Amino acid sequence: MTPEQVKLVQDSFKQVVPIADTAANLFYDRLFTIAPELRSLFPDDLTEQKKKLIQMLATAITNLHQAEKILPAVEDLGRRHVAYGVTAQHYAPVGAALLWTLEQGLGAAFTPPVKDAWTETYTLVAGVMQNAAATTAAPKTKQGLMARLFS
Ligand code: HEM
Repeated sequence: MTPEQVKLVQDSFKQVVPIADTAANLFYDRLFTIAPELRSLFPDDLTEQKKKLIQMLATAITNLHQAEKILPAVEDLGRRHVAYGVTAQHYAPVGAALLWTLEQGLGAAFTPPVKDAWTETYTLVAGVMQNAAATTAAPKTKQGLMARLFS
């Protein structure tokens, strides 16, 4: 990512912050429309989840220019996602829902360079999470337990 792209992401994120609650609602509605199979991974009540997602995005984006500082936290996040039942294939619909939400929230400010910069950011963060997940021992997921009980 170039320093210009980091700035594009940071500046456009500032425009989303005032409408963060609406954006979070839009994001999950969109995600469960394009990938309804993911709904069951999340708790029924998404209130806390929405807050955590925005906080995490804010932390990641504020520190994008010093990526090495957030790397361990992003790796940990990726490992925790294994335990949530998240697999590598799930990252694509989440990325698509995120970009779609930004497009709704930013309108005309979601220019092609802004879109490219966000695509690159998500690809980077998701890549680090997936890499860390791939090097994690088999999770104690519900599915894993069932497989062991009934194999
Ligand atoms: C850049 C990508 C992502 C970011 C920044 C992110 C961020 C977060 C954060 C901050 C949490 C709160 C819990 C914690 O810190 O461990 C969380 C939980 C969770 N995330 Fe993600 N996530 C990402 C990708 C995904 C993907 C691809 C899925 C797939 C559906 C997913 C599904 C979940 C689920 C199921 C939970 C736990 C919900 C619960 O049981 O409370 N996340 N995520």
